[in-house]
Amino acid sequence: MPPDSKAAADPYRVWLSEVMLQQTTVAAVKAYFTRFTLRWPRVQDLAAADDGDVMAEWAGLGYYARARNLLACARAVSAAGSFPGTREGLRALPGIGPYTSAAIAAIAYDHPETVVDGNVERVVARLFAVEAPLPKSKPELTRLAETLTPQTRPGDYAQAMMDLGATICTPRNPACAICPLMDCCDAHARGIETSLPRKLPK
Ligand code: ADE
Repeated sequence: MPPDSKAAADPYRVWLSEVMLQQTTVAAVKAYFTRFTLRWPRVQDLAAADDGDVMAEWAGLGYYARARNLLACARAVSAAGSFPGTREGLRALPGIGPYTSAAIAAIAYDHPETVVDGNVERVVARLFAVEAPLPKSKPELTRLAETLTPQTRPGDYAQAMMDLGATICTPRNPACAICPLMDCCDAHARGIETSLPRKLPK
């Protein structure tokens, strides 16, 4: 395999993890993801599961509409034979919004879709020292994020941006000294990283 490509990830596992990660931390999701994939290793297995068994395995993760959509989505995909191969096709499935469809297309299919969650918004706001406050700055942050998305390994890139935001470019006390982007970060150069992104009071 050429060095700039990677083996495709299983869309079932990427989809399941992205749905579990909606409004939930990686630390909280880990054990649930392991149990689900051991019990239902393929989307066809989950589609054939008893509703009550799935709801019981989901117990504790919260936002129970996600579990109902999960089953509806698994059954639609199983009936169709496979996951749709495009962001638009994914977006049409129950429980898959703009963010999750982009994440699955990028991470499972390596499509150059731009994935923008709260962590990525913070990384981009700091890189470009965007001083306009959220939520007004959202379209600008998305546009700037789109300018960064590479054609080579966009899935790894999307995952790296989310992980950078979650572990290094944190809201308080960002670890700039070990950040791979320190030298091109406008906010760091100006010493204003901890004040970005600004937020309008709710
Ligand atoms: N939150 C939602 N999707 C995520 C991902 N792929 N990696 C880390 N955190 C996430």
